[in-house]
Amino acid sequence: MKLLIKGGRIINPADNTDEVGDILIEDKVIAAIGQNLSADGAQVIDAAGLVVAPGLIDMHVHLREPGLEAKEDIVSGTRAAAAGGFTTVACMPNTKPVVDNSILVAGIIQRAQTEGVVNVKVIGALSKGLEGKELAEIGDMIQAGAVAISDDGGHLDSTRLLKTGLEYTGMFERPVITHSEDEELAGEGYMHEGSVSAMLGVKGRPAVAEDIAVARDIMLAEYANAPLHIAHVSSKGAVELIRQAKKRGVKVTAEATPHHLTLTDEELKTFNTAFKVNPPLRSAEHVEALIAGLKDGTIDMIATDHAPHAFEEKDVEFRYAPSGFAGLETALAVVLTELYHTGKLTLIEVIEKMSAAPARTFGLPGGVLKVGAPADVTIIDSEYKWTVDCIKFYTRGKHSPFEGRNLRGRSLITIVNGSIIMQNGEVLT
Ligand code: DOR
Repeated sequence: MKLLIKGGRIINPADNTDEVGDILIEDKVIAAIGQNLSADGAQVIDAAGLVVAPGLIDMHVHLREPGLEAKEDIVSGTRAAAAGGFTTVACMPNTKPVVDNSILVAGIIQRAQTEGVVNVKVIGALSKGLEGKELAEIGDMIQAGAVAISDDGGHLDSTRLLKTGLEYTGMFERPVITHSEDEELAGEGYMHEGSVSAMLGVKGRPAVAEDIAVARDIMLAEYANAPLHIAHVSSKGAVELIRQAKKRGVKVTAEATPHHLTLTDEELKTFNTAFKVNPPLRSAEHVEALIAGLKDGTIDMIATDHAPHAFEEKDVEFRYAPSGFAGLETALAVVLTELYHTGKLTLIEVIEKMSAAPARTFGLPGGVLKVGAPADVTIIDSEYKWTVDCIKFYTRGKHSPFEGRNLRGRSLITIVNGSIIMQNGEVLT
């Protein structure tokens, strides 16, 4: 099958280009990029006025399979990804059982190939059962295809185990991804510790708990000379620690989520569980520091931490609700509305943070528009106005902190391996 995308604004951060042109897709790869292309028998997509970008990549997604299918599974999660313009997602191992061995890694890869509508990369656990006691089968998992190792979902308390994990994973030139929040300090809190938590009388999770954990994790990565990726950075102090570490040459990369980049703890005043997440939504000064870090390259990429839960699990009193919410179907629109349309990021920066940077950092094949590259392409209407309605989400997680928001911009067409899998918001397969 041939696809000819005509007259789009082609944005390719990998070579810093942004110009109007055509892209021809043939045999699952990009066959040509240029002006006035034609191809016999090709399906033509008129992309005039639209942005043509390398497919979006999200390195932090909870697909919940195996075992937690009431929250999400590979089918629903990858369909949500397609709807949101993502062509590749990486799934976290905090499932039931935990993905801590090569059989499970291989199983997810295989299931994703048959059931998934986008590319799925697997992240294996660092410790067996996520118990933080014994190293998981890291080498075997990487050989089976795991792209990174992480105990995400919670903090890895054991400094000793993290040191060994970094050393071992580093031998395969793969990063360890950390959820950096000192659990002893933050563990009992439900929201950011500050004036809002004091006013509400809710126990807080202090930003310094994140700073301490990030400092430790960076020191260990520096000592082991091993790659470290810090998940969902949310505190001002963490941004500064990462900035300084990068200057020293530490192999550290970092991500921030659309929610931490755009929302504050003021939202918690309603006790709406759709805003409950770890790390928590923080105050405005932290949000500003995150955006500055994104802009100057301290924060390499945007990742959703798409963490769906079943509706009834979230539909309880604030204190009892699990943390996390859906993110795949709002991420691009939130970033375009709050960071691009406000002049904080350019379009090429948005595509860099949501596609090129994750591909480069994790050594993935996509993230680039060039002849011979996989035909993973996202066509974006940066002006499309719509209102978030969680009930219409493809994900099983029907809670979002952006429910009811008017957003500007969305992915119009998602192409994976040369096939159109989403058009006008509708997943086709
Ligand atoms: O809020 C969160 N939910 N943060 C995490 O790190 C894990 C996630 C989950 O798995 O539900």
